[in-house]
Amino acid sequence: MKKVKIALLGLGNVGRGVFTILQQNKDEIMKRSGYEIEVSKVLVRDVTKNRGVAVPEEVLTTDFEEILNDDSIKIVVEVMGGIDPAKEYMMRAMEAKKHIVTANKMLLATAGDEVFEKAEEMGIMFQYEASVAGGIPIINGINENLTANKINELFGIVNGTTNYILSKMELENLDFDEVLEEAKQKGYAEADPTSDIDGYDAQYKLAILASLAFGTKVKVNDVYREGITKIKPIDMKYASDFGMSIKLLAIAKDDDGKLELRVHPTMIPETHPLANVYDSFNAIFINGNAVGDLMFYGRGAGDLPTGSAVVSDIIAILRGNIDTDNNNPVIRNNLWEKKIKDINEVESRYYIRVTVDDKPGVLGQITTIFGANRVSLKSVIQKGRKNDENVEVTLVLITHKTKEYLIKDSIDKLYDLRTVKDVENIIRIEDFN
Ligand SMILES: NC(=O)c1ccc[n+]([C@@H]2O[C@H](COP(=O)([O-])OP(=O)(O)OC[C@H]3O[C@@H](n4cnc5c(N)ncnc54)[C@H](OP(=O)(O)O)[C@@H]3O)[C@@H](O)[C@H]2O)c1
Repeated sequence: MKKVKIALLGLGNVGRGVFTILQQNKDEIMKRSGYEIEVSKVLVRDVTKNRGVAVPEEVLTTDFEEILNDDSIKIVVEVMGGIDPAKEYMMRAMEAKKHIVTANKMLLATAGDEVFEKAEEMGIMFQYEASVAGGIPIINGINENLTANKINELFGIVNGTTNYILSKMELENLDFDEVLEEAKQKGYAEADPTSDIDGYDAQYKLAILASLAFGTKVKVNDVYREGITKIKPIDMKYASDFGMSIKLLAIAKDDDGKLELRVHPTMIPETHPLANVYDSFNAIFINGNAVGDLMFYGRGAGDLPTGSAVVSDIIAILRGNIDTDNNNPVIRNNLWEKKIKDINEVESRYYIRVTVDDKPGVLGQITTIFGANRVSLKSVIQKGRKNDENVEVTLVLITHKTKEYLIKDSIDKLYDLRTVKDVENIIRIEDFN
């Protein structure tokens, strides 16, 4: 049996998962890769920290140069996260002809071009399965198994924290803040949950997925982004009345060479498979012109699921020829130049929840504004009274398909009406057709 040395940069959640899998599944991994893998160095900030895995003391280091200068280390596994110093370490490791595995979505979404270029220049292998949707094999799924297809559309629930929160709100009729607090206590949400609840994490992931799916370079800022903080239990209730569910969806569509890229809360039919993705699970629904509809479902985070993707990437590298120069070309995805569709040009149906004075004629004023903007309303529902004096009511409007800028213009005009107290929420509806 051949032996190979690898190094981990980071021994947090994912690093621990990787280390555990390499130990627990040692025999399977040896048979499948043809190698006995030795983790010979692990870079951390604090060597004294208790990490819940038995890593020999001499393996831990705080000095990256020890890894860089050790020619016997063939693969560097970056599971430390962030841009700085992860990017510098990765670039230098590649220059030293070490193959790379990374789980770092932030780095790939913001500096992917640079690192892929370096990998290509150095002729090393660069694997990043764990960077999107943890344990779900979506990167290699698109990159290898779906390359015969033109991918038309991709819809993803790619953030476990927000899916956990929305699931709880829907199933238990709870407030956002209440569920967020509980999610923090259970470790499903970070102490600072901004990246998840404001949609940044999903934005990074969609930039990576769309780049692969459409064979182009999607920048993070090409992806329109909204988070879930404005969703209220009452929106969940209305959605359910309409036979729909609310999910934070990452949506990518290729409309004749123009890409629609957006992350936002979305009402989807409760009969669609994505509506049944609950708890912290992730799923990606793809339509390819040859294969048709596909859905990938599973754990998008966690030490072992994410470790599963990382270790598979290590095995993929070992199955190549790790010692031969330029024998492992990186397949780049900048195949086509595509335009990005502005969010104002996106067409959708909309759910609009408005609080208005309970007075005669208000409904007429509102429908006139939408009509003048060529927005056709499918239904208008008046429900309940808002306060003790019974002077305000909630109106819920559902539009037919229309362009976003017409909705925005209509909403601006609604605010000019003295009888409209507030436009409380606007949620796009996806019908999947
Ligand atoms: N957590 C998940 O489920 C998940 C899923 C998919 C992808 N990812 C990605 O995987 C990566 C790692 O995530 P994680 O949750 O494992 O993070 P984490 O628990 O915070 O662990 C980070 C590790 O990196 C080490 N580290 C950080 N900065 C360092 C520095 N400057 N020098 C040396 N060591 C440093 C830390 O050392 P100390 O322990 O000494 O502080 C720690 O061991 C991120 O890119 C993340 O986006 C995570």
